[in-house]
Amino acid sequence: MELVNVFDYESLAQTSLDAGTWAYFAGGADDEITLRANRRAFEQVQLRPRVLVDVSCITMNTRVLGIPVEMPILVAPIGFQGLAHPDGECATASASTKTIMIVSTFSSRTLEEIAQVATGPLWFQLTAPNRLWTERLVQRAAAAGYRALVITVDAPRSGRKEAAQRLDFHLPAYKANFGDEPMGNGFTSLPTWSSLAWLRSLTSLPIVLKGILTAEDALLALDHGMDGIIVSNHGGRQLDGVPATLEVLPEIIEAVNGRCEIYMDSGIRRGTDVLKALALGAQAVLVGRPIIWGLAVNGADGVANVLDMVRTEFEQAMALVGCSTLTTINPSFVRRMVFNGYLNGYHRS
Ligand SMILES: Cc1cc2nc3c(=O)[nH]c(=O)nc-3n(C[C@H](O)[C@H](O)[C@H](O)COP(=O)(O)O)c2cc1C
Repeated sequence: MELVNVFDYESLAQTSLDAGTWAYFAGGADDEITLRANRRAFEQVQLRPRVLVDVSCITMNTRVLGIPVEMPILVAPIGFQGLAHPDGECATASASTKTIMIVSTFSSRTLEEIAQVATGPLWFQLTAPNRLWTERLVQRAAAAGYRALVITVDAPRSGRKEAAQRLDFHLPAYKANFGDEPMGNGFTSLPTWSSLAWLRSLTSLPIVLKGILTAEDALLALDHGMDGIIVSNHGGRQLDGVPATLEVLPEIIEAVNGRCEIYMDSGIRRGTDVLKALALGAQAVLVGRPIIWGLAVNGADGVANVLDMVRTEFEQAMALVGCSTLTTINPSFVRRMVFNGYLNGYHRS
């Protein structure tokens, strides 16, 4: 069967992984209300195409934190990619040519090994057990050429994935980035607003907070000198019952008012999803699980193909909606179908 979209990769990935591993990758927290809401939100935003625009030449080149990328579609941090393919994050990095890959602290390969084979820019998603490890990892990431730090703020503990639990799935003991050195007594100093100043003082790398869902926290991120925000609900894997990110994006865009860069993830599967997120104000999106599907099915080639599918669909969506550059995408290209969320940022017709 020819694979024509990322959902085809999803079906094939499911058959190629054992049930427990699949449940770990696919699952959301608890009742998976948020997991479902992420997709539903995209389905409930409609497009308002403008016609007779010259779309013979579409360009989607942009900059993310000043880094040139060939598309506004980034690779989300996902830990333990070795469970999907023996080459793990090295395969993903070698396939992420046109864009930024964000490497999880819980990568199956070391951050240095990944940097060696990367074909595009890298950011490092930092989760450290204590201040000593924070300093070490920040230093190592900078030395290996990572261009920004991503601090995941929605996971002071891990959401429960019940399907994986039922299948008695357990993650393997983690080693790669920590080697055989003792990590100390578990994760004793998770970041708080009050420790961000210390983190800021450690490095001149830009810092991005991932997992913001309210205007209040977006404003705090600005107060703390953060360079970017990823509006994310962790793909529905953390607090079940939070809204889809597409629904909260407008309130955050409005509150931040251009003072830092804003990206979003959770549920991006189609080129039209990218268009909807950008129309509502995101500067770029991150793709999560589809990367794993590509990796599980066909390693680096699978990841490259998945990224290419989303890119090609987005290019098609730009042409059909009447936008030849990213700067022409704005809220007038979307309308709200059903949900009674925040109205600002939507075209009211
Ligand atoms: C299996 C899996 C592992 C993940 N591991 C991490 C991680 O280590 N760090 C992190 O910040 N986010 C992690 N995430 C969240 C992703 O970065 C991203 O927010 C999410 O997958 C986006 O939603 P999507 O899968 O619907 O595209 C993980 C997600 C999945 C599915």
